[in-house]
Amino acid sequence: MGKISLKPTNDFCPQTLFLYGTYDEQGNPDFGLFCWFSYLWDGELGAMCSIGGNKLTRSNIERNKVFSANLVTEELLTVADYLGCVSGDNPDKMKIGLDIGKGEVLNVPIINNSPVNFELEVTDFIEKHDGLTMLCKIRNVLQDEALASDESVESKLSRIAPVKTTAMTYFSHEGKVLGKWGEPMKKL
Ligand SMILES: Cc1cc2nc3c(=O)[nH]c(=O)nc-3n(C[C@H](O)[C@H](O)[C@H](O)COP(=O)(O)O)c2cc1C
Repeated sequence: MGKISLKPTNDFCPQTLFLYGTYDEQGNPDFGLFCWFSYLWDGELGAMCSIGGNKLTRSNIERNKVFSANLVTEELLTVADYLGCVSGDNPDKMKIGLDIGKGEVLNVPIINNSPVNFELEVTDFIEKHDGLTMLCKIRNVLQDEALASDESVESKLSRIAPVKTTAMTYFSHEGKVLGKWGEPMKKL
């Protein structure tokens, strides 16, 4: 196969999407959309996340050291896209009627209708220029109890339908285009 060299890009490397939930200084919940999320090993499974630039999610995590990561499904895409395109500096951002709950172990807000919620505690903040990478302990995983059934993994995954993204485009679990970043939120 012939190859071309490119500047740093992750196009054609699909990523899973998560809504990070934090509390602001007044104790109000804020959610932002994130894809630079992966896993690490440190005697047990952990998580690693990168945030670029300044945003409310970042300052909330730097202050509280805890946050939730809520899996984005096709059902959640319209609001997830909105939460990724509207800054937490907008005082009306969270006035969209989200179904918000609380973590079981950590003081973090969660999205009740996401089938997987990680409760994360940051152990290491790594600051690089205008980016921040965080290594996290997974203090709890809240999972939809229906995912514990005897159904096959294939059918459970196609039922919850996690959204993937690459090249600033959203894809369904089956691989169909669901819109460019900024498009699904127009349905709100
Ligand atoms: C599809 C998508 C993925 C995103 N992934 C990230 C990410 O991994 N890291 C990041 O710093 N910002 C990411 N963003 C941008 C944040 O979601 C955006 O800055 C948001 O407004 C943050 O919300 P907040 O201001 O309430 O913290 C992403 C945005 C979109 C639309």
